Amino acid sequence: MESVDKHVVWHHARINRAQRAALNGHRSAILWFTGLSGAGKSTLAHAVEERLHELGCRTFVLDGDNVRQGLCADLGFSDQDRRENIRRIAEVAKLMLEAGIITLTAFISPFQVERLQARQLVAANDFIEIYCSCDLAVCEQRDTKGLYQKARQGEIKWFTGISSPYEVPLHPDLIVETGRDSLDDCVDRVMEFLAVRGVIE
Ligand code: PPS
Repeated sequence: MESVDKHVVWHHARINRAQRAALNGHRSAILWFTGLSGAGKSTLAHAVEERLHELGCRTFVLDGDNVRQGLCADLGFSDQDRRENIRRIAEVAKLMLEAGIITLTAFISPFQVERLQARQLVAANDFIEIYCSCDLAVCEQRDTKGLYQKARQGEIKWFTGISSPYEVPLHPDLIVETGRDSLDDCVDRVMEFLAVRGVIE
C-alpha cells in the first residue's frame, strides 16, 4: 500500500468516542468472526447482531459476500487480493468503532498476519477474534452454496481449504464450535463473552 501523502493532516472530531458511547448506552467493539467457508460465520454474526439489537445496541454486520459486491468488488481470491480485502475491512471496522457501533465482521480472513494487523489497528480491548471452528469435512458436507463441489471439480480456483490455505487462529479470544453446537448455543457463548469483556452488561 502507498504511504499517506505528507500534506494530509488528521482532522480531530468534536464529538469523541466516549460521548458516542454515553449516548448509545454501550461501548463499541469489533467482533471479528473467522473460519472456513460454510463454517457459519455469517449465520452466527447475524444471530448475535439480532440479540444485541434486542438489547438496544447499535450494531452492523460487515459480511464477506456483501462487501465483495461493492467496496471490494475489484478483488478476487488470490492471496494478495484476500490480504487487501481484509485490510480494507479492518479499516472500515475501525471507523465504525469510532462511530460507536458494535461491528461484527464475517470474513474467512484466512491469514494470521492480516488478522493480527486488524487487531493492532485498535486498542486491545476493542477487538474480539472469534474462531468459528468447523471441520473442513463438515463444511464440505453442508456445501450450502455448492462451492465446495465446484472447487473439487476445478471450476473455482483458490478455494479456501481445498486449493488455498486457512491458517487456524493460534490465540483467538473465543472459539465457538459451529460445527458441533447449535446456533443458539453458539450465540449464547458469544453473548456471555461480550458480558465478560464489558461490551454488554
Ligand atoms: S477472504 O478470504 O476473507 O478474503 O474471503 P471473504 O471476503 O470472506 O469471501 C468469502 C466468500 O466468498 C465466496 N467465495 C469464496 N470463498 C473462498 N474461496 C474462494 N475461492 C471463493 N470464491 C467465492 C464464498 O461464498 C465465501 O463466503 P462464506 O460465507 O465464507 O462461505
